[in-house]
Amino acid sequence: MRAILSLAATLLAGTAAFAEVSVERGEYLVRGPAGCGNCHTPKGPNGPDMANELGGFLVEKTPAFEAWAVNITPGSRVADWSDDELARAIREGIRPDGTVIGPPMPIGLYRGLSDDDLYSIVAFLRTVPASDNSTPFSTYNIPLPPAYGPPIDSVAAVPAGVTVEYGAYLAGPVAHCIECHSPMGERGPKLDTHLGAGGFEFHGPWGVSVSPNLTTHEDGLAGYSDEELKVMITQGIRPDGSPMKPPMGYPHYAAMTAQDLDAIILYLRQLPPLPDPS
Ligand code: HEC
Ligand code: HEC
Repeated sequence: MRAILSLAATLLAGTAAFAEVSVERGEYLVRGPAGCGNCHTPKGPNGPDMANELGGFLVEKTPAFEAWAVNITPGSRVADWSDDELARAIREGIRPDGTVIGPPMPIGLYRGLSDDDLYSIVAFLRTVPASDNSTPFSTYNIPLPPAYGPPIDSVAAVPAGVTVEYGAYLAGPVAHCIECHSPMGERGPKLDTHLGAGGFEFHGPWGVSVSPNLTTHEDGLAGYSDEELKVMITQGIRPDGSPMKPPMGYPHYAAMTAQDLDAIILYLRQLPPLPDPS
């Protein structure tokens, strides 16, 4: 009897831990702030090919690597992976066959995705229309790490709200603003010493774009009002009306709730001041 009761307790606890998993939440994250499609959806001169959403795209070609953000719809090999396997690939960067997912997928930050959000993302990915788009796989001329850290058992949810803590969660693990807006070092973005200082260069069909400083330093966002920041983040338009360059995923950020955007701005407004790296 006792064994049965404790089994029941375990099952209940298990249910409770996943009580917040929902396809809707997953859809919001993937199409909104997490912007998986900014890398994984094919894009042409007329913008993203939504008939093949998440069907795979060449993200970056440099001497160090040719990175293809492959098809992750149910029309791809991930259909054969269990939910736990797909979740581990996203949060830890390790596929079921043990191989490691390379850059620029921001795995270091995805390690902070809460169980609820991670499994909501997985649940949504299972519902996207299957695309049969096929791309090559990536090639890396640099060594990939054996792993991005120790295995992750569980990550608790950060309570949603317009708080610095939730803003940090959104700007970090979810929307990876700080990945692009910190200078890149040998072992990934320098989050410990240069958080938000900018200076990361992006090369593409648009030429070169350099991520600006997002800290409270005078080189950073101090001169912009909250309204100006919101237009820049969600529409890619500067206060003088000029358009901003890729690869920042403006349309994805436009799908964010007003509250989530407020939380991100609250977080940015308290980033320790750091000068532009040079
Ligand atoms: C900055 C670009 C970028 C973003 C953002 C990104 N990815 Fe990726 N993703 C990649 C690249 C590049 C690869 C392939 C890396 C390789 O070949 O090792 C990849 C690989 C994957 C894989 C492994 C697929 C396979 O068959 O091996 C999964 C699953 C995945 N991404 C899911 C996601 C999800 C879910 C999100 C959003 C939460 C996301 N990615 C956001 C670039 C990105
Ligand atoms: C894939 C990389 C990438 C990601 C992710 C990204 N950004 Fe950016 N961001 C850039 C680049 C590059 C620019 C400069 C664009 C230009 O020069 O036209 C930029 C510009 C900006 C600017 C304009 C600042 C100024 O002084 O001109 C703001 C504000 C900003 N980003 C905030 C954010 C926030 C907030 C997030 C997350 C919600 C984010 N970015 C995510 C690359 C990125």
